Amino acid sequence: MTILGFASPAVAAPPPPTQNTQIIGGTQASQGEFPWMTRLSMGCGGALYTRQIVLTAAHCVDRTGADSSITATLGVVDLQSSSAKKVRSTYVYRSPAYDTTGGDWALVKLASPVSDIPTLPIATTAASNSGMFTIAGWGAAAEDGAQQRYLQKAEVPFVSDATCQSQGGDYTGLVPEAEICAGNVDDGGVDACQGDSGGPMFRRDEAGQWLQVGITSWGDGCARAHAPGVYTEVSTFASDIAAAAGRMTTT
Ligand code: ARG
Repeated sequence: MTILGFASPAVAAPPPPTQNTQIIGGTQASQGEFPWMTRLSMGCGGALYTRQIVLTAAHCVDRTGADSSITATLGVVDLQSSSAKKVRSTYVYRSPAYDTTGGDWALVKLASPVSDIPTLPIATTAASNSGMFTIAGWGAAAEDGAQQRYLQKAEVPFVSDATCQSQGGDYTGLVPEAEICAGNVDDGGVDACQGDSGGPMFRRDEAGQWLQVGITSWGDGCARAHAPGVYTEVSTFASDIAAAAGRMTTT
């Protein structure tokens, strides 16, 4: 999670050496706060979608097919905790449309179902594609920064497709149906970053339950002004995701 800070303007004295400067906008998640958060060993995030399937980003995986190369770590904020559940993958499904019409999502089937970990439901309509979102991950805490040991979380506001596209550069190519933007457009400062990809963007639904609306996909750098984070628009792909997960149950 990039929670980029800024150098303070001229100050009288340097901060004491123990002070952690320049981290703003995000904080460490508490144990159990986002129980479905999953770390994938290729350096991505994910969310537990069924007891045995993790939803992540297509760009985090190579191809559809049998794959035992990924280790999923679940059930912990601290990746080095001795109570972490570690489960191998058996199969990967990569959205076949990703390379053409977009849709940065993939499913990772685990070797065995995990117990005692709630799943994160996905948005099936656009009703929750606005407002404030929560993002979380173990990715870099600054552009080009190190991956994190402890799960980080932050809140980012919805950005409309028109505003997102008008930022220019890569944003001009935004696919409105397939992608949803979020971040502080004018100021930056809070964002996902490298290693957060595949992790969920989520909010509370009308009933107060967590609902996944996005999958961390890309951005121009991290937390820069006029460069919001871009997320897979989960509601657009909800039926494809459910169908693929249903087929995977028997693979
Ligand atoms: N593609 C990155 C990854 O693989 C995630 C980038 C998200 N960037 C952003 N500025 N929101 O981890």
